[in-house]
Amino acid sequence: MPVFDTYKIETLATPTLTLEPLTVAHANELFGHLSNPAMFEFLPQDPPPSIEALRERYQRWETRRSPSGSELWLNWLIRHESVAAGLLQATCTKTKKALIAYQIVTPFQRRGIATEAIPVMLNHLHQAAAIDTVRALVDTRNARSIRLLERLGFAKKRLIRDADHFKGAASHEFEYELDLTPPPKQ
Ligand SMILES: CC(C)(COP(=O)(O)OP(=O)(O)OC[C@H]1O[C@@H](n2cnc3c(N)ncnc32)[C@H](O)[C@@H]1OP(=O)(O)O)[C@@H](O)C(=O)NCCC(=O)NCCS
Repeated sequence: MPVFDTYKIETLATPTLTLEPLTVAHANELFGHLSNPAMFEFLPQDPPPSIEALRERYQRWETRRSPSGSELWLNWLIRHESVAAGLLQATCTKTKKALIAYQIVTPFQRRGIATEAIPVMLNHLHQAAAIDTVRALVDTRNARSIRLLERLGFAKKRLIRDADHFKGAASHEFEYELDLTPPPKQ
């Protein structure tokens, strides 16, 4: 699909936040926050083992594409004033679907940052990458993320029992979905 060949990531803005395309240069300011295990309590991932490992990962992501080129792998740093406040991620397929993920750094949680930032990314994905349907997978214990998704209009689609096993426990997940296509005109 042409949009995949021509897509270029952009800096996005909300009234109080800037969403910067994630680059290797962001590793330094994020490493400390990502070393906090609380950021990964309900995620299968762990804190990055070293700043070098984080730099390598962000370097790979600067291509904005999966190795085969079949998916857009998009990441933004959320900046509040001059400070890093979180991360947004979208994996986009040619079938107009995206899977999103998000992490707000601990000092900025519960201030409405995710609520403000995610819709701007979703609007961009619809306009610039032709995405029509967005999914999110959330651990059933992650009450704050579930409240966030429901506030943003996502609908719960299904429960995936034993989706994963990490940090000593089984992880069951809810799959949430949001349709970005506008309703047909009457
Ligand atoms: C889940 C997570 C992304 C939520 O991000 P957040 O920025 O704290 O979310 P918000 O601030 O937008 O909303 C959370 C709370 O802030 C409150 N809030 C405060 N000011 C607000 C404002 N101006 N606008 C909206 N909500 C506001 C909301 O009422 C909400 O309360 P609730 O959690 O009791 O429902 C964050 O906790 C996080 O990064 N967790 C670790 C990683 C993670 O679990 N990611 C999700 C994986 S699925």
